[in-house]
Amino acid sequence: MSEQIWTKELCRKYADGLRPIVKYDHGRIAQMIIKKIENKADLVVVDIASGPGFLLLELSKYLENPKLIVHDSSLLMLEIAGEEAAKYGKEILTCESPAESINLENDVADIVVCKQLLHEAENPELVVSEICRIMQKGSKGFIIDFDKEGSKTAAIMIRILMYFVGGKELSKSFWKSFTSGLQGNIIVQYLKTNNMTNVEYIKSGANYFISFEKP
Ligand SMILES: C[S@@+](CC[C@H](N)C(=O)[O-])C[C@H]1O[C@@H](n2cnc3c(N)ncnc32)[C@H](O)[C@@H]1O
Repeated sequence: MSEQIWTKELCRKYADGLRPIVKYDHGRIAQMIIKKIENKADLVVVDIASGPGFLLLELSKYLENPKLIVHDSSLLMLEIAGEEAAKYGKEILTCESPAESINLENDVADIVVCKQLLHEAENPELVVSEICRIMQKGSKGFIIDFDKEGSKTAAIMIRILMYFVGGKELSKSFWKSFTSGLQGNIIVQYLKTNNMTNVEYIKSGANYFISFEKP
């Protein structure tokens, strides 16, 4: 756990620093997700710890009339997500709560994504069980985060990129986050304990990409 403090300044810096690379980061992950879902109209898609909502917004490009829900414990991040959604011409619903007790009903989501939260969550196991709780039968979930066993070379390259696009503080914060990553296999175990099926763990550079289904 990295104990990141999401101050107003860091939230803005995070959004501004990431915006130029969204296409290569969130955009690429959105494409991986789209290949794994049954794409139909009116899907309810929830982004847990969405930050500025980049992953949800990139995903929305491929979906027909989705209901988009951004979730985060920081009101400021949700405000920034609203600004980003306006740029994409999308409407979003917001949900503010800790991911350890998500303020959504059981079985509401067709797709849940959660990117770059677990390395800094106070209780990752509880977050995983909350994600599973809000998924409806047959829905798909995707957890992406820094992998303790991920590529260090990839992480160093991102660190350098972050330095140039976002500055020293963002680059330092990225490295602190990367080195707090959990092992993908631990997350797989949590998902299996929550009776998820088709759990697939893919190593993707500095990250793990884990997909699963609620039976
Ligand atoms: C590294 S950012 C990731 C944002 C986004 N998912 C992305 O990949 O660009 C982490 C986000 O998690 C949020 N966060 C941190 N701890 C949280 C918690 N316990 N519950 C909900 N959100 C949390 C922060 O406010 C921040 O927006």
